[in-house]
Amino acid sequence: MSARVYEAINDQVNNELSASHSYLAMSGVCEELNFPGAAHWFRVQSEEERAHALRLFDFVHARNHVVSLRKIQNETTRATALVEVFRASLAQEEQVSQQIDALYDLAMQEKDFAAVVEMQWFVTEQVEEEKSARDIIAKLEMAGNDARALLEIDRELGARAGMPGGAGPRGGPPAAR
Ligand SMILES: [Fe+2]
Ligand SMILES: [Fe+2]
Repeated sequence: MSARVYEAINDQVNNELSASHSYLAMSGVCEELNFPGAAHWFRVQSEEERAHALRLFDFVHARNHVVSLRKIQNETTRATALVEVFRASLAQEEQVSQQIDALYDLAMQEKDFAAVVEMQWFVTEQVEEEKSARDIIAKLEMAGNDARALLEIDRELGARAGMPGGAGPRGGPPAAR
């Protein structure tokens, strides 16, 4: 693996961990807004980002390099409406998609075909990530300030299956709500 590809993938391990941290902060904001289903959804999302980081962590080590972890920035996500939290999450995913595209491009330039194949998974994943955020935003925009509709969406978000082995909210089992 070339030095440039290594540096870029190492950055992405850190970016995925930072996304995980940011989603956990969003989960906290949802708790504060009294949407336990959305809080659960973001907690699962946080675990998913950590799994992305670990996937790349393993890839780096499999290719005989060592990951260098950095400090993660504090998150100060504030929102007064659920839709704002999901808009912040979409903005974050769009940023990650750009990071992944740049990484894919670099891997091609460097003719690092193993990295190209590894990044293909991430390119596909980003399409899904952006779509799910947009779908939820669309529902929340339709619901507007209708409390019953918002509570119904929150119930649906709460039904998201957790990551295997991931702890559910307040120490409960994954996908228990
Ligand atoms: Fe990710
Ligand atoms: Fe993501």
